[in-house]
Amino acid sequence: MRTIKVHLKDRSYDILIGRGLLKKSGAIIKRLDVGNYAVCITNASLLKLYGNVLRKTLEKSGIPVRFEMVPDSEKAKSEGVATSLIRRISSYDKRKNIFIINFGGGVVGDVGGFVASVYKRGIPYVQIPTTLLAQVDSAIGGKVAIDLPIAKNLVGSFYQPRLVISDTGLISSLPHRQISSGLAEIIKYGVIKDRTLFAFLERNHKKILRCDNASLEYIVSASARIKAKVVEQDEFDRTGKRAILNFGHTIGHAIEAAAKYSNRYNHGEAVAIGMSGSCGIARRLGLISQKDAGRIISLIAALGLPTKAKGVRLQAVYNAHLHDKKFIHGKNRFVLPVRVEKVKIVEGVPDAVIRAVLKEEIL
Ligand SMILES: NC(=O)c1ccc[n+]([C@@H]2O[C@H](COP(=O)([O-])OP(=O)(O)OC[C@H]3O[C@@H](n4cnc5c(N)ncnc54)[C@H](O)[C@@H]3O)[C@@H](O)[C@H]2O)c1
Ligand SMILES: [Zn+2]
Repeated sequence: MRTIKVHLKDRSYDILIGRGLLKKSGAIIKRLDVGNYAVCITNASLLKLYGNVLRKTLEKSGIPVRFEMVPDSEKAKSEGVATSLIRRISSYDKRKNIFIINFGGGVVGDVGGFVASVYKRGIPYVQIPTTLLAQVDSAIGGKVAIDLPIAKNLVGSFYQPRLVISDTGLISSLPHRQISSGLAEIIKYGVIKDRTLFAFLERNHKKILRCDNASLEYIVSASARIKAKVVEQDEFDRTGKRAILNFGHTIGHAIEAAAKYSNRYNHGEAVAIGMSGSCGIARRLGLISQKDAGRIISLIAALGLPTKAKGVRLQAVYNAHLHDKKFIHGKNRFVLPVRVEKVKIVEGVPDAVIRAVLKEEIL
């Protein structure tokens, strides 16, 4: 097991990473002393796969648990689902010291964390992320939110968990596309901050795609460590340090929006195309060598991710990128690679460059 500490004064917490942690989570959570009654937010598929293991370990440690189901899709991050969870919890929260466990991917983590942040002005919660993306990204850092029809993550707050337990053994039941989606974020961490991680991904892509546990433990820990460091430097997204986590996300979000958030491209796939596009922009601006850009694009492909978007219209992607929240004072803003382990934030990339990259390199 590996432990990473997130240092945030009185909001500090540990991230535990290792295979088989789920069945030990009862004892681990008991030691935290965050409450005597667990409300576990999850969905029906995860309950079926792992509900018994989780119930058993909690009850063995003297923590009764009640499972609360949410829909298995982004629809769970809605006002209706959040309100219904709050009402249900309040109906049995009598003389109990309730805390929340979010058992699932980013969707469960975001809505469960949101409920924890507002119920009784905040109750403790533990993240047990079950997707690769959630283990390396969404479960860490305290951004919790629900969506409104007009935009994703529009209602939310910063509310840190008390603990993150990442059992890498859970990744083996994830559908292949979901694994790739998490891998896109892991490539991102390599490019922005960690050439050792990047080289490891290059050398071990086959093992990783087979869910080799030692490899998974290493890449999840290396990524979680980077996310934790960035969050420590910019907990509330104010100093600009968190911005480098958006590498690949400007074009990525535009592709997701242009594809109308359909199943055509999931988040990681869109980010993969976005990273590939950022390499193209950086190369045209003379920021990165052909060789380094080629290395990044080859790794994206080696890990089974797309580097080009098919079936989305150039104009739709272009228009969507104009609405990106990273636009500041009307100027676009891109996180561009300079070499592996170094990125630069560039404002005001000429329109002609963006259009040329969209047209000639990624669409
Ligand atoms: N809070 C943040 O900082 C942050 C960061 C990135 C993304 N997000 C959010 O995360 C969400 C996406 O999260 P996600 O990619 O984890 O998707 P997800 O939560 O929708 O999970 C993907 C699918 O995998 C299934 N699943 C989960 N774990 C499984 C397992 N171990 N075995 C088998 N199936 C499993 C789920 O039931 C679901 O169908 C988005 O809503 C996004 O906005 C939040
Ligand atoms: Zn992302």
